[in-house]
Amino acid sequence: MSLLFSPLDLGPVRVPNRIVVAPMCQYSANDGCASDWHLQHLMTLAMSGAGLVVLEVAAVERQGRITHGCLGLYSDANEASLARALAAARAVALPGTRFGIQIGHAGRKGSAQRPWEGGLALGPDADPWNVLAASAIPFDEGWHTPRAFDAEDVARITHAFVAAAGRAARIGFDVVELHMAHGYLMHNVMSPISNQRDDGFGGKRANRFSWPLALAGAVRAALPQGVALGARITGQDWAEDGLQVEDAVALAADLRAAGLVYACVSSGGVTPRIRVAVSPGYQVPFAKAVKAGSGITTRAVGMIARADQAEEILESGAADQVALARAILDDPRWGWHAAEALGASLSLPPQYARAAAKLWPGAALARRHAE
Ligand SMILES: Cc1cc2nc3c(=O)[nH]c(=O)nc-3n(C[C@H](O)[C@H](O)[C@H](O)COP(=O)(O)O)c2cc1C
Repeated sequence: MSLLFSPLDLGPVRVPNRIVVAPMCQYSANDGCASDWHLQHLMTLAMSGAGLVVLEVAAVERQGRITHGCLGLYSDANEASLARALAAARAVALPGTRFGIQIGHAGRKGSAQRPWEGGLALGPDADPWNVLAASAIPFDEGWHTPRAFDAEDVARITHAFVAAAGRAARIGFDVVELHMAHGYLMHNVMSPISNQRDDGFGGKRANRFSWPLALAGAVRAALPQGVALGARITGQDWAEDGLQVEDAVALAADLRAAGLVYACVSSGGVTPRIRVAVSPGYQVPFAKAVKAGSGITTRAVGMIARADQAEEILESGAADQVALARAILDDPRWGWHAAEALGASLSLPPQYARAAAKLWPGAALARRHAE
């Protein structure tokens, strides 16, 4: 019996298996609105076999986008375009597939070029915008100098998160995920590397974590009971003066107490001065510590690419779910192939059933090609 293909309850939401599509920006939105690219992308992932598909981060306000191509949930037009994309994805999804969306604010990493345009700060002729952060420290040389947020920003952005989550619920998402990692605003506020404030939002951990925790509580209070709320958090900053795994455990415990039902444990991104040596499952130890120390349902992510690897992570008790990003872009039928490898059953769309390994002898040949 495969653990990967066993169901799991994320609070009120049952997912049919433990495979999650990790959020992946497509940089293909128009003023925050999902485009036809999103239709094909999401319809494809909807039949990947993953029990939960988490859509890319949607900015809670226009200046909270990373690039001009980022998805948003800050306008009625954004909401309508995402409703269209989600309806299309649901129409072709494998039975039981659940959908979530990540919401966030880019902070000082916003007003940037799309990765394929260079990924640097937008120049003066590229319609840049003013960015915000805990302290007026740019992400790197050549990046925009942010303005340090004030009490009015805290109130506005908290409200924007609540409003965006409300839009996600209205569209019909099963899960909302708060982006608290990768150096974006919430992580920027929590990390001592980027937060150099000397007011009530800076200094000791309780101060640095106070806004993200209050925001998480406000979103939970406003969301309908049937929608699960989780967060993507930082396992560590990979720097002595940054967040450590103990901070991740403490944050997860507090998020759990605030009613969040899972933590997806990522790492890094708050400063470019660290280069992380990635290897298979390199962030799994952080997930393991978070799960053991906080008791929250935990998702591991990062260089998880093989079915046996995913199964082993779950069997070892390090995590309750695994999220895949690049592996599932590479092979959008990853779940089908994982089911085949682990001897689990997955109901395929009847239109494509003849491609199932047991019905098509060529499948073995195709798999060999992929090895
Ligand atoms: C194209 C692309 C876009 C991404 N966009 C997001 C995002 O919107 N939010 C996020 O938290 N992580 C984002 N990530 C990070 C992934 O979710 C994931 O954590 C990371 O790629 C490591 O997992 P992997 O080794 O399975 O790719 C992105 C990654 C890729 C490759």
